[in-house]
Amino acid sequence: MEEKVLKIQKIRRGIVIDHIPCGKALKVLRILGITDDIGSTVSVAMHVQSRRVGLKDVVKIEDRFLDEKEMDKIALIAPNATVNIIDDYKVVEKYRVHLPKEFVGILKCPNPRCITNHGEPVKTEFVVISEKPLILRCRYCERDIYQEEAIENIV
Ligand code: CTP
Ligand code: ZN
Repeated sequence: MEEKVLKIQKIRRGIVIDHIPCGKALKVLRILGITDDIGSTVSVAMHVQSRRVGLKDVVKIEDRFLDEKEMDKIALIAPNATVNIIDDYKVVEKYRVHLPKEFVGILKCPNPRCITNHGEPVKTEFVVISEKPLILRCRYCERDIYQEEAIENIV
């Protein structure tokens, strides 16, 4: 179906993070460190109609790509997102993000008594113990955290 109004331009090269849950685009930008001018064009569309999933947000970043850690962080915020790699205006790769089984060195444990908060040289480790609702458990202190708290504790 041809769109009558082009809401957000196609990009020449970079990434399109599509099917982000409505309202979460700014969180995605924050975890990618895009809180200021990063020297490339960033477009954000919020609350747009999708053909498949109702309402969604979309983030497009020109000349920027993602590493695995960033993909894991996006999975925490937007478990059903699609990451499209664009080159010469074409989608050259399309990934569905997926929730890893564990998050290593990605989240700060919210328990102040946890050993990972006491200057020890250990990386934080959280194991996914439930996907719906999303619950992660700290390997060190066994604190359980839900999705929203996990997102707030991304480092
Ligand atoms: N896109 C873009 N710039 C391009 C090519 C694509 O911004 N040069 C965007 C499209 O607007 C869309 C996303 O990248 O939001 C994925 O493009 P495409 O695979 O063509 O769209 P769909 O088939 O709708 O994707 P899906 O099946 O993943 O919903
Ligand atoms: Zn802990």
